[in-house]
Amino acid sequence: MDFQKLAREEILGVRPYIPGKPVEELQRERGLAEVIKLASNENPHGPSPAVLEVLEKGCRELNRYPDDCVFYLHRALTEHLQVDEERIFIGAGSVEILYLLANVFAKPGENLIYATPSFVIYAIVSQISQGTGIAVPIDEDFRHDLEAMAETVNEKTKLVFIANPDNPTGTYNSADKLERFMETVPQNVLVAVDEAYYEYVDAPDYPRTIEWLDRYPNLIILRTFSKIHSLAGLRVGYSISHPDLVSLLERVRPPFNVNSLSQVAALTALKETERVERISRENNAARRHVAEELRKLGCRVLDSQTNFVMAFLPIDANKAYNALLDKGVIIRPMGSFGTDMNAVRISVGLEDENRRLIETVAELLSESSSSSSSSS
Ligand SMILES: Cc1ncc(COP(=O)(O)O)c(C=O)c1O
Repeated sequence: MDFQKLAREEILGVRPYIPGKPVEELQRERGLAEVIKLASNENPHGPSPAVLEVLEKGCRELNRYPDDCVFYLHRALTEHLQVDEERIFIGAGSVEILYLLANVFAKPGENLIYATPSFVIYAIVSQISQGTGIAVPIDEDFRHDLEAMAETVNEKTKLVFIANPDNPTGTYNSADKLERFMETVPQNVLVAVDEAYYEYVDAPDYPRTIEWLDRYPNLIILRTFSKIHSLAGLRVGYSISHPDLVSLLERVRPPFNVNSLSQVAALTALKETERVERISRENNAARRHVAEELRKLGCRVLDSQTNFVMAFLPIDANKAYNALLDKGVIIRPMGSFGTDMNAVRISVGLEDENRRLIETVAELLSESSSSSSSSS
């Protein structure tokens, strides 16, 4: 049977998402005992003791379906964010919400705009939707080029995805620039501002998008429990938007999309504001340290507002990625973002992991300079 013929045509061109390599896979493949993973922008600190406790209790009720309306987490987010409850939609990770948005709104002939390189899921959901994706290159400062994106908007544009801060660059656009963008695009163009790394940001001119919701009914803000809240494995994220948009998403989401363990874990993690602040401070100090050390080794490292950095090594990025795998260090090459930029993305780890990363990169660079001097 020819399943390709049976499938919708637009699906055939979709290239599956390439996640960071799992630790166990590398251990198996290369017989390595000590592997560190700095490839998926996860929080290197595990879930908090309080979260582990509610998870253990929750496990005892796994025979039951979850609360389909996610009542307690909804209420807690309402208080936490100080927004109307009707504005909040909770999904199985913010990625689920991106899938829903593209599928609910993009009609045949319409387009969806995103930056490149940026979070690869925007391209994938655009391709899966009935519309067509348009990728707009980032600017020379490695930021989303919001002016170029606004110029790309036409009467067929339905959705624009903006990662702020961006992944893989870690750069952000200021409140002024994003506001100008929101003022420029017509209000029938939906603008999804993905703030997955929101809690790490310490730039004073970063936009407070929640305050703009009344002014811009076309604004959708996305956040996640996968990053600072240490819950990537549970898959829970949320959006804040106009209530009428929420009711459309509610119609198409799968029932029970937020599982019961995610609900109790996220509810507990949300209350741990001191932990979040501490992890953010520690991450940002560690990120600056990693960036400085890599710069000392001759790498160009972009300023980041997230829990990762984008670095241009003085050698081929794919070779560096593979050589680091051999040494038990998993990072992310830019190829997985559909760009040929000679760069890699490195997540901030625990102190020991960061030290090992820097030592391993130093070792790699010195090996490559001695092999190039002996071959010349
Ligand atoms: C910009 C951006 N948005 C969303 C996500 C994923 O979020 P979630 O785990 O909530 O689906 C990521 C994860 O890497 C990301 O970088």
